[in-house]
Amino acid sequence: MAFEDLYQEIILDHYKNPRNFGEGSPTCSAVELDNPVCGDHIKLMLHVNEEGIVDEVQFTGSGCAISMASASMMTEAIKGKKVVEVKAIAAKVIKTLRGEEPPKILENFGDVAALQGVIKFPIRVKCATLSWHALEDALAKIERKK
Ligand code: FES
Repeated sequence: MAFEDLYQEIILDHYKNPRNFGEGSPTCSAVELDNPVCGDHIKLMLHVNEEGIVDEVQFTGSGCAISMASASMMTEAIKGKKVVEVKAIAAKVIKTLRGEEPPKILENFGDVAALQGVIKFPIRVKCATLSWHALEDALAKIERKK
């Protein structure tokens, strides 16, 4: 199977069976973000425990396969990790999706690797980064609460 086909399958799998899809517990911080161009919407719910670890991450939303699959992949890539590490991952993924880093970098973050194919398509890049921007907003919100 060609890499492109494999990546396509992974994206469709996350779209059809999103991981960590649902409303988080009441202790989560929630942020909502839209892509104004198309109306795609994501709500991300995040909780950081006393050790500074993201111990809960859930999302809901509606939109294209890439935006929803990217959100699902993102939750898997960050769950159980320290906030400092999560911030670094988000920055790296966004930079790479924008074409500012070699695409292969995405292979360090599990199924996120499957998003490599969207880098060539600027409109799709916006789809793929939506949830990652929501993640940055959620982390900033949690920091402000401290
Ligand atoms: Fe809206 Fe993809 S078409 S985020």
